[in-house]
Amino acid sequence: MRIETFNPNKDYGTPARVSEKLVTVEIDGVEITVPEGTSVMRAASLANINIPKLCATDNLESFGSCRLCAVQIEGRRGYPASCTTTVDEGMKVTTQNSKLAKLRRNVMELYISDHPLDCLTCPANGNCELQDMAGDVGLREVRYGYQGENHLDSEKDNSNPYFSFDPSKCIVCSRCVRACEEVQGTFALTIDGRGFDSKVAAGQNEDFMDSECVSCGACVQACPTSTLMEKSIIEMGQPEHSVVTTCAYCGVGCSFKAEMKGDKVVRMVPYKGGDANHGHSCVKGRFAFGYATHKDRIKAPMIRNTITEPWQEVSWEEAINFAATRLKEIQAKYGRESVGGITSSRCTNEESYLVQKLVRAAFGNNNTDTCARVCHSPTGYGLKVTMGESAGTQNFDSVMKSDVIMVIGANPTDAHPVFGSLMRRRLREGADLIVADPRHIDLLKTPHLKKAQHLALRPGSNVALVNAIAHVVVTEGLEDRAFVEKRCDMESYEKWREFIRDERHSPEAVEATTGVAADKVRQAARTYATAKNGAIYYGLGVTEHSQGSTMVMGIANLAMATGNIGREGVGVNPLRGQNNVQGSCDMGSFPHELPGYQHVSDDTARAHFESVWGVKLDNEPGLRIPNMFDSAIAGEFKALYVQGEDIAQSDPGTQHVEKALRSLECLIVQDLFLNETAKFAHVLLPGSSFLEKNGTFTNAERRINRVRKVMPPIAGKEDWEITVDLSNALGYPMHYNHPSEIMDEIASLTPTFTGVNYDRLDELGSIQWPCNDENPVGMPTMHVDDFPIGKGRFSVTEYVATDERTNSRFPLLLTTGRILSQYNVGAQTRRTENQAWHNEDVLDIHPSDAEVRGIKENDWLGITSRAGQTVLRARITDKVLPGVVYTTFHHPGSGANVITTDNSDWATNCPEYKVTAVQVERVSQPSEWQQNFKSFEALQMKLLKGAADTAHSEVEAE
Ligand code: SF4
Ligand code: SF4
Ligand code: SF4
Ligand code: FES
Repeated sequence: MRIETFNPNKDYGTPARVSEKLVTVEIDGVEITVPEGTSVMRAASLANINIPKLCATDNLESFGSCRLCAVQIEGRRGYPASCTTTVDEGMKVTTQNSKLAKLRRNVMELYISDHPLDCLTCPANGNCELQDMAGDVGLREVRYGYQGENHLDSEKDNSNPYFSFDPSKCIVCSRCVRACEEVQGTFALTIDGRGFDSKVAAGQNEDFMDSECVSCGACVQACPTSTLMEKSIIEMGQPEHSVVTTCAYCGVGCSFKAEMKGDKVVRMVPYKGGDANHGHSCVKGRFAFGYATHKDRIKAPMIRNTITEPWQEVSWEEAINFAATRLKEIQAKYGRESVGGITSSRCTNEESYLVQKLVRAAFGNNNTDTCARVCHSPTGYGLKVTMGESAGTQNFDSVMKSDVIMVIGANPTDAHPVFGSLMRRRLREGADLIVADPRHIDLLKTPHLKKAQHLALRPGSNVALVNAIAHVVVTEGLEDRAFVEKRCDMESYEKWREFIRDERHSPEAVEATTGVAADKVRQAARTYATAKNGAIYYGLGVTEHSQGSTMVMGIANLAMATGNIGREGVGVNPLRGQNNVQGSCDMGSFPHELPGYQHVSDDTARAHFESVWGVKLDNEPGLRIPNMFDSAIAGEFKALYVQGEDIAQSDPGTQHVEKALRSLECLIVQDLFLNETAKFAHVLLPGSSFLEKNGTFTNAERRINRVRKVMPPIAGKEDWEITVDLSNALGYPMHYNHPSEIMDEIASLTPTFTGVNYDRLDELGSIQWPCNDENPVGMPTMHVDDFPIGKGRFSVTEYVATDERTNSRFPLLLTTGRILSQYNVGAQTRRTENQAWHNEDVLDIHPSDAEVRGIKENDWLGITSRAGQTVLRARITDKVLPGVVYTTFHHPGSGANVITTDNSDWATNCPEYKVTAVQVERVSQPSEWQQNFKSFEALQMKLLKGAADTAHSEVEAE
């Protein structure tokens, strides 16, 4: 019989197997053909024959502990467990007969005799596998009674803010333990004790919150009873419908089922049909969705003339007309170039597309930029120059074919957790790990990690390191000459080869610069270059440097020289921080590029856009974000429309940014909350969260995923509708009934998107661009036969030390990063229970640096750079190298960007967040900036409250 197509809502009991050899078996008289290695349980399930089960589930290897899935197999003795028995050619299986029924009832009786029979009041009622199985096996009586020893009084663990653990309901199936090991890779749970005394334990018999648990929810998902249960379900009951959508946090782009009761989300369940996450999640996407309905949400449009006036709540029409009138007046007075717009990598593709279209077509200039400027703009530049496409080369699953995984300047288990778990799975299987990072990241602590090398380089020395690795490859003859000759431009290669061979790039010559011992660099180079499949993953530790673009090119050189391009298991893979960094770049948010990376100076491309948009377009690139700030301070740039981005918190040189924002005559902010930027605004347009709108996000794999509306927008409009209204009010007509029509327009203008539309996305689930006539279902691996520019181009990557140097005044190097529980500027996660893990940014300092300064744990530390000063609490840890300090930037009052400098990448202006020379000393009070910040915040909150109070009293007066 034919196997039914994969149904992501069904549990097939055991994982799928891949084999070219097929095996045909007969189950209850039905013939089915499956890949060799498939379990009897899965084969039966594929034939729509459902064998009772408790300890098996299809994202975990089978375990065979409950015995409920026993079957009879012709010619075999006893009753083997169908989950642990694999199919053999010609096997004949019986899944139902009286003996099996009796056996299963006995098993269930034993379970139920130690289980509280409070089904009617149990939160899992109606969605409990134990309850279902009792029904399936026809359990009618429990002969053993409850008088004997049992676990019914076991104490509940409520320490985790999102889920509870009630051991009285536990059947010790160990699904949770295996989920934590196999899916999440954290190994936080064990089965403690033996026989009747065995029980699930977190950490060393601790509360969940005190253990290594990272609250990913995999164990909760796996639990067949209500032992591990979401508190939201306990409070609100089981959902009644669900909608598949995409997480709005990081660049992994996990698919979720938003499980609903009416228009309330009761639970986010990772969706097994999601090609980026295959049913896994992290604490943010799984649990931290409460910000969407937080009391701080801005629920009505607001305007004011100056930033010291109270906000006035007004109608949408009034707010849009106020904004449009201001923009028109400013352009009339100061010229067409005096206004601009910033899109956000947190918004959808359709929203970003409309903002840049508004700027180019309605404002009439190219002053559009995106927050990707401050994270991955060097990726766009560096990969385009070398390989012809501004995107990563692989899908996430590719890592399962990698033999060596090199991670440079990235921290996947915190910043891209679901992909971090997949990486850990591959590392447990035996892949080699090379980490190039100043910090001892958690990936290096992967349980059962086989082989790892840590190149703990000094911040700012990336290019020297990658050149040294390439030098070893070339001088030791480790290149893939055949690949280079076939696929690369030989002139650029020979030039690069001459450059890199030079002794000044040898590991020995750069040892003093990088701080990494030469033999370690040589060993890492050999490991990567001689691997069958070597893959490079990198993050903001590569891009956010004065040589960010050079480093991206250095990585591409290395991958091409070793032939690690164009197949599964290899490649160059930027890990994008926010959910739609790839998409906001694809959508033409940068001032020099139209959607699809088509340069504004390209006459043919521009003519195409002009004919569809019906306007003449400027052929000169517009202002980048830092240029907008400089120009505002110079009095030339006067108005800015910011959609979904918090430049006042996220951009470097906070005092400079604040000065620029104060210089504007009109700042229009569209956001969920009164964020730091909105405190300087004149128009506040309430945005909609990902739960309130339709659209698409594109993740780090170039995968376009649908975002689906599950509840109406709190303030009445989806973000794309606001941009449309503003454009119409400015006199440039935009008419769309649905974001699908915006995507159709994008597809008509962008060669790599011509095959993308909502119907196809619904049909395929997701699409990795390019998707066009040549690639109708998208492209998981890029550059298989050639590069978009024909031959790969090597670039000479001279190391130039950053101007930001340590000296006796600033002897330490500060570097910054993210933490698992918080997201970017924290506007969303700070308004959730994730605060339980990280409610303040602290400064990590090495014990030796702390000791010489007399610093103790939790001391207040003044951190002074050439740009400014801020104060944070000390955390003493050897995770950082001596001479390096580290902090996160999730809390605005921390002022991390008060101390970062205005150094930036030579090619793209991406700020050098990762290297700031600082001095650290004990202090007793907040910095001057922090004190000013507090009083400005208090003022703005008062002005906001004024608006709410006025609106309230107006309603009362009516
Ligand atoms: S929530 Fe995740 S990390 Fe924590 S115990 Fe469960 S599976 Fe492990
Ligand atoms: S907590 Fe749930 S998944 Fe874990 S052993 Fe108990 S019943 Fe099984
Ligand atoms: S890994 Fe990223 S996309 Fe996935 S659930 Fe976590 S934050 Fe969301
Ligand atoms: S489901 Fe097979 S032994 Fe438990």
